[in-house]
Amino acid sequence: MKRMNPSVKKSSGIENQFNRFAFGVATLPKSMAATSDDIVNLLRHRRIIASSQIVDSLRMHSDPAKLLDMGAKIDFHKGFLTQEIFSQLNELYLNNSQDSNLSSTPKLTTSEPANDLGRVIAPITAPEPLDIEFRNNLPDWDVNDYSCHAVDAPTDITVHYDITGKSTTEGKMNDITACFSDRLNKIREMIVKNSKLPRRPTEVARLLREVHRYQGYENKAVAIGLVNEPRYTKNGHLMWSLEDETGEMNCLLTKRQGDDRDRFQEQIIEAGLMPDDVIGVSGTFSQNGDIFYVDDLHFPMKERHQKASSPFGVSVAFLSDIHVGSKTFLEAQWHKMVRWFHSDPLAKTIKYLILSGDCVDGVGIYPGQDKELAIPDLFGQYSEFARLLELLPDWVECIMLPGNHDAVRPAEPQPTFEKDIQQDYNTTTFVGNPCDFSLHGVRLLSYHGKSIDDFVAGLKTVTYADPVEAMRQMLRRRHLAPQWGGKTPLSPEPEDGLVINEVPDIFVTGHVHGHACLDFKGTTLVCSSTWQDQTSYQRMLGFQPKPCMLTIVNLQSHATTAIPFV
Ligand SMILES: [Fe+2]
Repeated sequence: MKRMNPSVKKSSGIENQFNRFAFGVATLPKSMAATSDDIVNLLRHRRIIASSQIVDSLRMHSDPAKLLDMGAKIDFHKGFLTQEIFSQLNELYLNNSQDSNLSSTPKLTTSEPANDLGRVIAPITAPEPLDIEFRNNLPDWDVNDYSCHAVDAPTDITVHYDITGKSTTEGKMNDITACFSDRLNKIREMIVKNSKLPRRPTEVARLLREVHRYQGYENKAVAIGLVNEPRYTKNGHLMWSLEDETGEMNCLLTKRQGDDRDRFQEQIIEAGLMPDDVIGVSGTFSQNGDIFYVDDLHFPMKERHQKASSPFGVSVAFLSDIHVGSKTFLEAQWHKMVRWFHSDPLAKTIKYLILSGDCVDGVGIYPGQDKELAIPDLFGQYSEFARLLELLPDWVECIMLPGNHDAVRPAEPQPTFEKDIQQDYNTTTFVGNPCDFSLHGVRLLSYHGKSIDDFVAGLKTVTYADPVEAMRQMLRRRHLAPQWGGKTPLSPEPEDGLVINEVPDIFVTGHVHGHACLDFKGTTLVCSSTWQDQTSYQRMLGFQPKPCMLTIVNLQSHATTAIPFV
């Protein structure tokens, strides 16, 4: 099932990059122009972070290492190399060069006054990304809701579920059966616990043997099983068959009129059911016993969830679908965010940054993708993303999981990135997709969100314009990707890793390039924003993404805000 792309690995620039790192830029002859990677490595080596414009300026400089040495004169040894500091270093470098020239050419001093020597060269100033006023300058967040600086709290990450290193499936029939059996057992327990069943559930085979006991309004039967072939009749009623370990029965939920109407059932009929959902039904059999008339449906969701709170008032921020390597990656907006991180008081409270997959655009993900790539090499894309993350302040801990564009197996649950990708990143925790984890006791469920494609196709009420509805439906079903054989490839692990075992305090997805942050029955739902502009494919579909929004949730107050960088 492991489907890494070995051909891409061979073309990787990793080995080259490490050779360059070993020799170091400082040893390059001055006549040899440095590459961006050289400069990035030089900066990393000195623990300096800089925007891509500064990196470009250094690349064009005749002696970038010597220029950085000038930092000793203004007490700049490491940290964020701003344009202002760069200009100062450049000025010192030029003055220093003039002094050196003077001392090495004493003959000239005899014929001309020292002050007239040399030329005054203007410092190189790289164009900065256009600065648009931050809307968050408005007082749209209360300092009391974001009470603790990230540096004042210890790091506290506890992972509860991550498939990495634990995948045991061979993809055989008995694995698939074990996976569905585990799903059914777990969600059945949740339905019994959380839903108001009129009586204990009975096995389907037993109900079919005793249909005569469950006819008429008095004796309702209850069964819990997996949904097969949900479909509509020509009269708009909803039909499906319900299957458990013992058998299968045909179910019918009728569209009712007048006083018989029930809002919850209307919503189910309007939305439909997903294949392989686990649901409970209560109702009675038809006279000949071949149809089970459903009076009520029972889902495993709790009425209300009580959130946990962190003892530290630090915050967590959310991003997804950065798509570095694509021509439509919004780099200038990224640098704008980096400057915000280094200057805004709210940013000082952000201790964790959750990156919910598709941080790079990948290679060979869809036909013709190569024409839309600015960085055609997969490892080059990951290295560039590592460089972009290093521009963020030291106090931000990143937690990164894969998505469907990443270099891991596509079947979910997905294990995390291979070590040769991870080694470019300094302060990042790598986890699989999905990942159930806690930050200071606050439970988070992060899932890239590929199955939203199946929810859009399967449920009439879910659209790409409102992806949060898919998240509500996942929580309602306590399952992230119920449909087998749909658009989401699934790995049949003996323990179904896509069951939502614990209701999260914060549930985050990405994938669809939308943005939303709202409460649903006590859980904060975050649809993470993208950092990619509208693609040609999205333009063809008429889909307008909502890029460059940083969602922030405080782990103590659970206050939320979103900062736009568009
Ligand atoms: Fe995606």
